[in-house]
Amino acid sequence: MRILITGGAGFIGSNLTKRLVEDGHEVIVIDNLLRGNKLSKDIFDRITFIQGDVRDADLIMQKTVGCDVIFHFAAVLGVDIVADNPVETMDVEVIGTRNVVMAALANNIKKIMYASTSGIYGHSAFENVLTEEILVDPRTSYAMAKRYNEIYLASHHEEKGINVVSLRFFNVYGYNQDNRMVVPRFFEQAVANDPLTVFGSGKQTRDFTYIDDTVEACIRLMDAKGSHIVNIANEAEWCIEDLATQIKEITGSKSAIQYIEAPKKRYDYEVERRVGSSDKLLEMTGYKPDTTLVEGLKKIYAINYRK
Ligand SMILES: NC(=O)c1ccc[n+]([C@@H]2O[C@H](COP(=O)([O-])OP(=O)(O)OC[C@H]3O[C@@H](n4cnc5c(N)ncnc54)[C@H](O)[C@@H]3O)[C@@H](O)[C@H]2O)c1
Repeated sequence: MRILITGGAGFIGSNLTKRLVEDGHEVIVIDNLLRGNKLSKDIFDRITFIQGDVRDADLIMQKTVGCDVIFHFAAVLGVDIVADNPVETMDVEVIGTRNVVMAALANNIKKIMYASTSGIYGHSAFENVLTEEILVDPRTSYAMAKRYNEIYLASHHEEKGINVVSLRFFNVYGYNQDNRMVVPRFFEQAVANDPLTVFGSGKQTRDFTYIDDTVEACIRLMDAKGSHIVNIANEAEWCIEDLATQIKEITGSKSAIQYIEAPKKRYDYEVERRVGSSDKLLEMTGYKPDTTLVEGLKKIYAINYRK
């Protein structure tokens, strides 16, 4: 297939691009390189790369001609960056997604795979795991724009019949991630024997999903017809303090764990518990992420950090 990936030079996008190229697909990446280029030279040489902005409607219209699927992953993210740039965050989401949808309709593209976020659940009330049906609670510019786009895409399915999947990613971690996110930050601190800085009590939980499992889920969902919102989660709840301890153990680090108060601008992003259900993904694809956090951390330590 001919597949276009916006944000394809980023963490998830570059891993997805690699897999799609290796599976024999023709891949076009559009990325403005806001975060640099995470594509390896080998893969870069086998794709069509366009340095450009998803807010550029003409560019998106032109470059999507003849595509079968669009993965729309371009976004501004990272809590501190989003908190400092809420307008740009929302513009890239809302204008970028509109451009992708308009181009898909004009160019008769059958499928849009959109990178949404588990951040949409905010402080949603739940007992065991967050299912896609739970009442969502987006509070930040980032989460609100993602939620808007989920509904915008679903609306286009209803009116125009285009197939859409919104992927609610839960803390993806793995190869090629930068230290805007907690896992690479802890690894960098641990290998330097610097204190691992934990915001608040460290008892807040997250669900960490390994990158290869995330990519596998994306690929399996490419065939889905209709309009869907699907959690991409590992269904395992880890508190941040235990994550720090685990990374210290794996790296053999002498670092201390340092508890610091979260800066005020992070307050809206601080959530006590987050863990997702993978039932819907399993039902739709016969697959659910199965790399445990410890296995995943050991893999990325070996690939990215071991000297
Ligand atoms: N990493 C996670 O844990 C996670 C969790 C939930 C959702 N997501 C979503 O998954 C997608 C990919 O995230 P990631 O972790 O790979 O992030 P990333 O920052 O590594 O990748 C995003 C890419 O988008 C590009 N980009 C930003 N603004 C752009 C613009 N205006 N035009 C073109 N390109 C632009 C960046 O240069 C970058 O390469 C994003 O939509 C993100 O919101 C990620």
